[in-house]
Amino acid sequence: MKILTSPSIFASDLLNIEKEVRRAEAAGADTIHFDIMDGVYVPNLSIGFDLLAQVRKITDLPIDAHMMTVCPEKYIERLANAGADIVTIHSDVADEDSIISMFEEIHDYGMLAAVALKPAVLAEDVYSLIDYCDMVLVMTVEPGFSGQKYMNMTGKIRKIRDYIADGDISIQVDGGINAETAALCARAGANVFVVGSAAFGSSDMKATLTNIKRAATVAYCE
Ligand code: DX5
Ligand code: ZN
Repeated sequence: MKILTSPSIFASDLLNIEKEVRRAEAAGADTIHFDIMDGVYVPNLSIGFDLLAQVRKITDLPIDAHMMTVCPEKYIERLANAGADIVTIHSDVADEDSIISMFEEIHDYGMLAAVALKPAVLAEDVYSLIDYCDMVLVMTVEPGFSGQKYMNMTGKIRKIRDYIADGDISIQVDGGINAETAALCARAGANVFVVGSAAFGSSDMKATLTNIKRAATVAYCE
């Protein structure tokens, strides 16, 4: 699996978002992670469709919309129109059939679909959804805020990687990721690394992302 980094724009200096997107591009980011929070699914509000559409205009990097909202099905069309490339839906926002329908709608718009697991959700809880999506996001913090302490989810990541076996499905991790925690997750089978405060808080984002990729590449092969 390709090892990729995805800076989380929510952790950037939002007053200077264009500069921050350029900084991520110059640092070698593979995708832009875009956190959408509704104050109901998580106790925080963040950024939304209009800003996503603005970011779309200034970058060719794929944009991954991490939906931390209830009823994400209401927003799939707007995400497509705003120019999202990947839509990530939390597994516990609806029943299995409804989530599968959301993935189908996401695919019908030509976007990729991912299922996200907050810390309390078990690997086994999402096995039946994995066949319908392109990526699994294992949260390594409680969703809602940047800058939190990393929580160890390596057992869960390993189970999911074993379940996927030879399938072409990425495992992404999000929350408290730096070179050290990325290596732990990569060793368990994660290959896409969302990086918020460690990336945007760095004075040399290129070095930060390069170190994360290097550490993860070595660990993934172990
Ligand atoms: C938290 C968000 C993350 C956050 C990551 O709910 O999903 O994407 O911005 O930030 P760090 O890397 O600082 O934990
Ligand atoms: Zn996120």
